[in-house]
Amino acid sequence: MTVVKIALLGAGTVGTQVARLLSEQKEDLAARSGAQLELVGIAVRDVSAPRDPAVDRSLLTDDPESIIDEADVVIELMGGIEPARAYILRAFAAGASVVTGNKALLAAHGPELYEAAAQADVDLYYEAAVAGAVPVVYGLRESLAGDRITAVLGIVNGTTNYILDEMTVKGLDFDEALAKAQELGYAEADPTADVDGLDAAAKCAILASLAFHTRVSIDDVHVHGIRSIAKADIESAGRSGCVVKLVASAKRRPEGIELHVGPTLVPLDHPLASVRGAFNAVVIEAEAADRLMFYGPGAGGAPTASAVLSDVVAAASHKVDGGRAPRELIYGDIPVLEASRGRSSFQAEFAVRDEIGVLTKVTGVFAAHGVSIRAVVQTVGEDGLARLTVNTHEALQADLEATLAELADAEFISEVHNVNRVEES
Ligand code: NDP
Ligand code: HSE
Repeated sequence: MTVVKIALLGAGTVGTQVARLLSEQKEDLAARSGAQLELVGIAVRDVSAPRDPAVDRSLLTDDPESIIDEADVVIELMGGIEPARAYILRAFAAGASVVTGNKALLAAHGPELYEAAAQADVDLYYEAAVAGAVPVVYGLRESLAGDRITAVLGIVNGTTNYILDEMTVKGLDFDEALAKAQELGYAEADPTADVDGLDAAAKCAILASLAFHTRVSIDDVHVHGIRSIAKADIESAGRSGCVVKLVASAKRRPEGIELHVGPTLVPLDHPLASVRGAFNAVVIEAEAADRLMFYGPGAGGAPTASAVLSDVVAAASHKVDGGRAPRELIYGDIPVLEASRGRSSFQAEFAVRDEIGVLTKVTGVFAAHGVSIRAVVQTVGEDGLARLTVNTHEALQADLEATLAELADAEFISEVHNVNRVEES
């Protein structure tokens, strides 16, 4: 049987599980790929650090280049931009295919990597880069290649979904929930990427490029993280029959592509509302297929390793039988819309003076800026203030911002609380 040499770059949360599965499933993987998969080395920063027994210490090296140069397939699970980018380019130059879970790198340098893989006539696979074990990259790139996608809407960051879920269900505060997500191996090495929405934005860019066949980078995505979400926001969402989720949204509008990542109120009857813990879900709307949902574990060592191994089987079988991974299908040039041209329904909460005529004044400001109100709920507060919750119909972000700017200065408003997007069911 042909031997396909594998170099593994990284033996952290995911790399360790990949090493374990390569060993435990050796025979099945050989039968499926048509090749003996031989792990020739595992590159880490610190070869003397304690490791899970699944990692064969005799394979450890702190010289990644030495194992890249002898490999047929390089698995990059180090993370970060450099030196991961340089190692992947080196692998292509040496004729090796690459499997990676590095969404940050793909969202920033995808075109360069695709180009280098094409030049070298080798594969670049990255199923693990979006939604862990969930085969949404394959689904978009291959299963839906015959359809026209109109929207991709997802919970694509396990850490933030876990944090919001723990805050909602167990009443934990933000820091406690983040510490638990880190212990469970969901968070990035620097969890800022998770909580500030950048990890979800990278995934949003990858999904949008696949869905709309137009080059989208992380810089095109308008991002808000979850740091500003407090228990009060979660309780307020609950009163409106919603849960707060970090939603990545890529929508094809007549005038261009709208890309947004941010805390969103999701009605309880929406399919994304029931996504719990570190699970991910991606809802895809396509003209012919209609609405599909991909769902499953979105982070963690073993689930992510499952996606990595599926790519390794594909890349190894190409080494045996010939053939290539699907090429990058970028042929469109749809403009990406400025944040101000985005559209959504919104919910805003205000503390207002509880006096005759204030409600009319507030709703008048919305009307003056062309923002249509769907519902208003007023509850009596303390100190002569009332709490006003305003839900709008779909409105332009720019019009909503103009409304809020005027209200923030109005003498009858005491405070503007968090303003969030609302996803319609
Ligand atoms: P970890 O931080 O747990 O592991 C990183 C590994 O890479 C470590 O073994 C580290 O060595 C090694 N490494 C880092 N820099 C270098 C370097 N310069 N030279 C050699 N080795 C290096 O990361 P994860 O396993 O969590 O993530 C890996 C990749 O997978 C990232 O791109 C991440 O975004 C992605 N991913 C992660 C998921 C998850 O749930 N964790 C899910 C989906 C994708 P050492 O052990 O010595 O420190
Ligand atoms: N940190 C990422 C998350 C890992 O929490 O979703 C999976 O990509």
